[in-house]
Amino acid sequence: MLLPRKWYSAINVRRSRRRYDKSKPIEPVKVEKLHTVCADFRPFSGVRVEFFPEPPDDIFANAFWFYSMIKNAPAFFAFIGDTSDDHMQEKMGYTGEGIILEATALGLGTCWVALSYRSKSAMSMMKLSATEKLIAVSPVGYATDVITFEEKAITGFGANHKRNPLSTMVSGLEQAQWPPWVRYAVEAARLSPSAINRQPWNFRIEKDSITVSVKSPGMEFNVSKRLDCGIAMLHLELGVVNQGVQGEWELLKQPDVARFTIK
Ligand SMILES: Cc1cc2nc3c(=O)[nH]c(=O)nc-3n(C[C@H](O)[C@H](O)[C@H](O)COP(=O)(O)O)c2cc1C
Repeated sequence: MLLPRKWYSAINVRRSRRRYDKSKPIEPVKVEKLHTVCADFRPFSGVRVEFFPEPPDDIFANAFWFYSMIKNAPAFFAFIGDTSDDHMQEKMGYTGEGIILEATALGLGTCWVALSYRSKSAMSMMKLSATEKLIAVSPVGYATDVITFEEKAITGFGANHKRNPLSTMVSGLEQAQWPPWVRYAVEAARLSPSAINRQPWNFRIEKDSITVSVKSPGMEFNVSKRLDCGIAMLHLELGVVNQGVQGEWELLKQPDVARFTIK
């Protein structure tokens, strides 16, 4: 499946939403589209996203962190990965973010949740094979039109949505020598969501390629930084494709994650 252009536009619109409008169910035609994109967007083996058109109230009930209080969502996504695959985390981030951006393009709110949700409760609603694990979930639905004071407080009054300057995350070729596609790629990648907004990525620029790597390897809050880097991979590629340039990914070993080389 070619990456749709509407996903690139959705990058600027998407933000994590944690309050949903009970009075606005997702229309059947959009429910169908969400099922379809989950079935069709499977660029890698070993990972999948499932859409559940039922309220995830139990999954987010009594969450022990104020940060993750999600209310009134009518449906959710489950991000499922095969733990026997060494590249599962980055594949999961890439694939999952495609589904998130499709939902965004449909006018729906989402929020990656990998830290504080009731995973046992979520897993009781799905079938996993012996090697599969639930990596994260996301509510999906119409978010409230107005971002309430409560939701603003959860996001540190916008601080959790802020991104570091580009200069702190790029290395390699001097910016003055970048071809135009590089700027679009890294600007789109910079806007990627990450757990607790940690932005754990570095982008090494060469003439024909960009290598994504983890700044300081390891887990933090029990969530792999390679998952965040996978999300950045999709954003990066959307930035490149938007410039009419094509390329392909090569998955790499720690601390590198993957290299995108243009054709
Ligand atoms: C892998 C991942 C895990 C996340 N886990 C949680 C979570 O457990 N609870 C939560 O409320 N938000 C979670 N978030 C949302 C981030 O806090 C949010 O993406 C980040 O602060 C950037 O804000 P933005 O998405 O509005 O741009 C997660 C995001 C990612 C990418």
